[in-house]
Amino acid sequence: MTKGLRKGLTSYGDAGFSLFLRKAFIKAMGYSDDALERPIVGITNTGSDYNPCHGNMPALIEAAKRGVMLAGAMPMVFPTISIHESFAHPTSMFLRNLMAMDTEEMIRAQPMDAVIVIGGCDKTLPAQIMAAASVDLPTVVVPVGPMVVGHHKGEVLGACTDCRRLWSAHRAGDIDEQEIGEVEGRLAPSVGTCMVMGTASTIACMTEALGLSLPMSATVPAPHAERVRIAEASGRRAAEMAVSGGPRPSEILTPAAFRNAQVVLQAIGGSTNGIVHLTAIANRTEHKIDLETFDTIGRDVPVLVDLKPSGDHYMEHFHHAGGMPKLLQQLGPLIDLDAPTVAGGTLRDVVAAAEEVPGQKVIRSAKNPIKPIGAVAVLRGNLAPRGAVIKHSAATPSLLQHTGRAVVFESTADMAARIDDPDLDVRADDVLVLRNTGPKGAPGMPEAGYLPIPKKLGRQGVKDMVRISDARMSGTAFGTIVLHITPESADGGPLALVQSGDMIRLDVAGRRIDVLVDDAELERRRAATGAPQEPAWAERGYARLYWTSVLQADEGCDFDFMRRKPDEA
Ligand code: FES
Ligand code: MG
Repeated sequence: MTKGLRKGLTSYGDAGFSLFLRKAFIKAMGYSDDALERPIVGITNTGSDYNPCHGNMPALIEAAKRGVMLAGAMPMVFPTISIHESFAHPTSMFLRNLMAMDTEEMIRAQPMDAVIVIGGCDKTLPAQIMAAASVDLPTVVVPVGPMVVGHHKGEVLGACTDCRRLWSAHRAGDIDEQEIGEVEGRLAPSVGTCMVMGTASTIACMTEALGLSLPMSATVPAPHAERVRIAEASGRRAAEMAVSGGPRPSEILTPAAFRNAQVVLQAIGGSTNGIVHLTAIANRTEHKIDLETFDTIGRDVPVLVDLKPSGDHYMEHFHHAGGMPKLLQQLGPLIDLDAPTVAGGTLRDVVAAAEEVPGQKVIRSAKNPIKPIGAVAVLRGNLAPRGAVIKHSAATPSLLQHTGRAVVFESTADMAARIDDPDLDVRADDVLVLRNTGPKGAPGMPEAGYLPIPKKLGRQGVKDMVRISDARMSGTAFGTIVLHITPESADGGPLALVQSGDMIRLDVAGRRIDVLVDDAELERRRAATGAPQEPAWAERGYARLYWTSVLQADEGCDFDFMRRKPDEA
C-alpha cells in the first residue's frame, strides 16, 4: 500500500509531478529525504488561546512527535478548530459537527498513515472520534487530561460542580462579591478538562473503554509528567499502526466496544451528554445504539466510581485509585474483555495490568456500590415520545416520583427575565418547564437544562425541584432534571403544548414523563400553535447547514447526511 507523502497523489493526474511538488514545498521546512520517505503520523493541534482546557497542547504534541520519531515514523502536526465550553457561541454543541467535519476532511485531505487526535474539552473528543470513525484510518486518541482540584477555605473545589453551587450561594447572598472573586481564581487551578465526572471526563473514560486510547489515558491529570509520557507512548503506538495499517477504528468500534462504553457511562455516574455523543459516534459506524438498550444496561450496572457530582471525589483521585483499568476489573462480567484496543491487545490485557491500590475508596466493588443501579435512566411518555433522560444518580431521591404543577418558560431569555421575579407564581413542589432549547430550538441544545431554583425559593432553602426541558445539562450539575425531551419543542414535540398550571408526572421507576392533559386537548392546542417557523438565524452559512440537517438527541444530533449509510462498504 502507498504510504507517507505518496498517499493520495491524484491532484494533478501525474503522480510523479504531484510527489515532486509536495516534496519541493515541504522541503522549504528543511526536511531531509530520509524524513520524507517514512510513514506519516498526523497529529491534530487543537490548541487555542480560547481553550484553556487544551493548555497543555504544546507539551502533548511535542511528546507525541517524539514517540512517533522514536518508532521511526514521521510526525506531521496540523490544526483543526478547537471548541471550549465557555467560549463557543451560541453553544459548543452547535459547533461539534463543524469540528467533526473539519477533522474528517483534514485527515482525508492530507497524506498520513495514522492519526493522533488530541482533545478533551467536552465536544472535542466526540467530534474527533466521529471523524475518525468515518475516515477509518488507524487512530489513537490522546485526551488532554483533567485539571487538578482547587482549594478554598479548606474546602476542595471542582470545576464545575462547585461553580454552580457557589454561584447559587452568591445569588442567595451567602457569599459576597469579594469572596466570589477569590473563588473565581481557584475553581480551575490548572490547564486540563473539568475534573469532576462531567462530559469531558465521561467521554475520556468511554474512549478508554472503547479501546481508542492507551490505558490510564482518561485519568492522568493534565499537568502531570505521566500525561506527557502517555502522549509519547501514543506516538510510538500510532507509528506502529501507521506501518501495520491497523487496527482501524472499524476494528475497534465493535458492538462489544459500544456496549462496554455504555456500561462504563452508567458505572462512572457519567454525563447525560455521553449517550448523545456515543450515539453520534455509533451512527458513523455500521452499529447503532438505542436508548432502550442503554436503559436496560443501566438497570444492571451499579455506579462504582465515587466522583462528583454523583459522589465525593475528583478525577485525580480516580486516577490514583487505579483509573479505568481498575474500574473495568471491578465491573467484571459486565465488560466484554475480548474487545480489542489500540494498545495492541484486548481489554483483558488492560484489566490484567490494573494496579492494586490498598485502601483506595474511590473505585468501589460491585458488592459495595455507590448506587446499586446505573446513573442515567431513559424516560418516555406523552411528553417525550422518542425519549428523554434523567441522571437519577445525581437527583433527589424523593423527587424521582413526583407530580406537580407546570411553570413554563418559553426560552432561556424568558427564563432569565422571569425566574427571579418575586411575583412569579411558583412553589417548591412545582415542575419548572423550559422549552425551545433543543438541537434546533436555541440553537445547539445549550446546557440550559439545569434551570436555577427561583431566588425566592432558594432563600427559603429549596435546593432541588423537578425541572424538565429539551436542553442538555452540564455533566457537572446536580438535581432532579429531565433532559433531551425528544422530539424537541421547536421540531413539533409535545413539550411545545404544555401550559403553566398543567400537571406533570415524573415516574422514574416506571420510566415515564407525562403531562396529565388528555389527547384531545393536546391536539386542540397543537392546531392552535401551528407548524414551527424557520428562524432568522438559519439563513446562511454553517447555521443554514445546521438547521436543515441536524438530527434529534435520540439520534446523536449529528447531521443526517453524515451518518454511515446502511449499505456503505
Ligand atoms: Fe473544558 Fe469543562 S470547560 S472540560
Ligand atoms: Mg460540560
